Amino acid sequence: CGIVGYIGSDQASPILLEALRKLEYRGYDSAGIAVVQENHNLLVRKIKGRLSNLELLVQQQPVEGMCGIGHTRWATHGDPSDINSHPHTDVSGSIAVVHNGIIENHAALKTWLEKHGVTFKSQTDSEVIAHLVDFHYNGDLLLAVMETVKRLEGSYAIAVVCEDYPDRLVVARKDSPLVIGRFQGCNLIASDVPPLLGITREVQYLNDHELALLTSDDVTIYSMDGDKLEREITHVDWDIEAAEKCGYEHFMLKEIFEQPKALQDTLASRIKGGEIHLAPAIDALLQECTHLLIVGCGSAYHAGMVAKYVIEHFAKISVEVDVASEMRYRTPLCRQGDVCIVISQSGETADTLASLRLLKELGVKTIALTNVVGSTISREADFVMYTQAGPEIAVASTKALTTQLMCLYLIAMVLKKNHDATLLAQLSQIPSLAQKLLEKQEDIQRFAARQFNKDKVFFMGRLTDYAISLESALKLKEISYTHSESFAAGELKHGPIALVDESTLVVAMCTQPQLYKKMDSNIKEVKARGATALVVTFDRVHEFDDTADEVFRIPETEPYFTPMLTVIVSQLYAYYCSVLKGNDPDKPRNLAKSVTVE
Ligand code: G6P
Repeated sequence: CGIVGYIGSDQASPILLEALRKLEYRGYDSAGIAVVQENHNLLVRKIKGRLSNLELLVQQQPVEGMCGIGHTRWATHGDPSDINSHPHTDVSGSIAVVHNGIIENHAALKTWLEKHGVTFKSQTDSEVIAHLVDFHYNGDLLLAVMETVKRLEGSYAIAVVCEDYPDRLVVARKDSPLVIGRFQGCNLIASDVPPLLGITREVQYLNDHELALLTSDDVTIYSMDGDKLEREITHVDWDIEAAEKCGYEHFMLKEIFEQPKALQDTLASRIKGGEIHLAPAIDALLQECTHLLIVGCGSAYHAGMVAKYVIEHFAKISVEVDVASEMRYRTPLCRQGDVCIVISQSGETADTLASLRLLKELGVKTIALTNVVGSTISREADFVMYTQAGPEIAVASTKALTTQLMCLYLIAMVLKKNHDATLLAQLSQIPSLAQKLLEKQEDIQRFAARQFNKDKVFFMGRLTDYAISLESALKLKEISYTHSESFAAGELKHGPIALVDESTLVVAMCTQPQLYKKMDSNIKEVKARGATALVVTFDRVHEFDDTADEVFRIPETEPYFTPMLTVIVSQLYAYYCSVLKGNDPDKPRNLAKSVTVE
């Protein structure tokens, strides 16, 4: 989602709409604005669909006023609809709020507010904020927002207006971005820099646990305790296109770097009191499950492959994985009580949708695992679980895949039944380990600079390392157009080794300690045929130092959890090879982000 706000001496609505246009890449399933009129009237216009719908609505029902807020939505709680669109208002409609983030304790807050007589209009987590501000409001808007944010758990960037104050805008943030734009006679806020650039290049960054009070000529930043804080003004010299990518050269690189946060968002809302809670109905369904099917296409299928190894290992439940284009035409032998997880980033892939429909006809209970709220697959499945990756723009999937994996690990832990605090603690560390790994990206960039011209690249591994080899080879072929393949390392001797020569790079994923010796033999076999070998293994492992040409190290964790880390190495390698070859990694030839035809 994206939020914007304006206060100054011009009409707010055209400025807000223009600013939202620059934020559409953050989400685009609904949009809205709220403007405070000089005569203390608060007007809200919001509507489902692309921004053009809102522009039309505002044309038909204009709003006048020089202070306002706006929102473009990418649904996380509640389908895209007019009611669920932001801004949200309190019961009397005198306070309006836009929010980007996830309020993890929204259910408890909602129950509490309902006990105090509040009736909710939407299914969003964000609406609680508007009611809480109203609850704490006694004439001081800043204080009311300050009291409200103290009660919020989760992530938020919020902007609040109130009909009593056509000359005030209050904002706050924690774990969601918020930038303030400074100009003579007006001030603005936005989730990102691009919407500000039409008016100013002088910005102030709000930090976590801070609030700001904006008027048309001043901005004051406060701590949560109400202390005034100094903040320097920074000059931004990015052009608009660079700003949309937050300074990254491509969306794909930006999305690779968003993974620690996306993983954390996906995990955090599902852990309460040290235990995993998906949704009561899904938890109950999984408790009864004895055989699992998983279906998807492309990267989603690879997430399913990882899950097969993980679920069978931890939960001792058999898992059958298939690509959707096969599943839909074969004769799947389903049994009573079978559950199928249907994985699709977009929730629209034609083959995956057809498999879902077939399985439902066969009486299988289906859980959609998708990134897009309200997508066809999310609506047609019996149950739905959302990845919290945010919009993924680059065609090659990165953060959608890793967040799918995180959801599948959570499912594996629920299927395991007996609670394991150590495993959960290790899973909770994955987002920060991903961050640590990304800090070493230059090592991969340097390696890519030496190897990007290799004719053939083979990825190999065993167990989960094999599953991630499949995804690694796909990523590399998708965007660098290098002939890349993946093999279960034990299969090498049954054919693929005939292809190995001096022009081959072999990337060996080695994160299964019980199989280090087997992997070491496989690496020796390809080295003996002239191949260059890169080994990806843990920080403290030295078994491959003498065999490999190069070793890339990932932080220590439970070996079955490594796919969420090793795949980041492959993503970066593919990205840099693509750039070095002069390709556009965001828009690879012949490929589409979402394949809605057969
Ligand atoms: C296309 C994309 C892939 C994606 C696959 C499945 O091929 O290029 O990145 O993995 O579709 O898409 P879905 O939206 O169903 O996950």
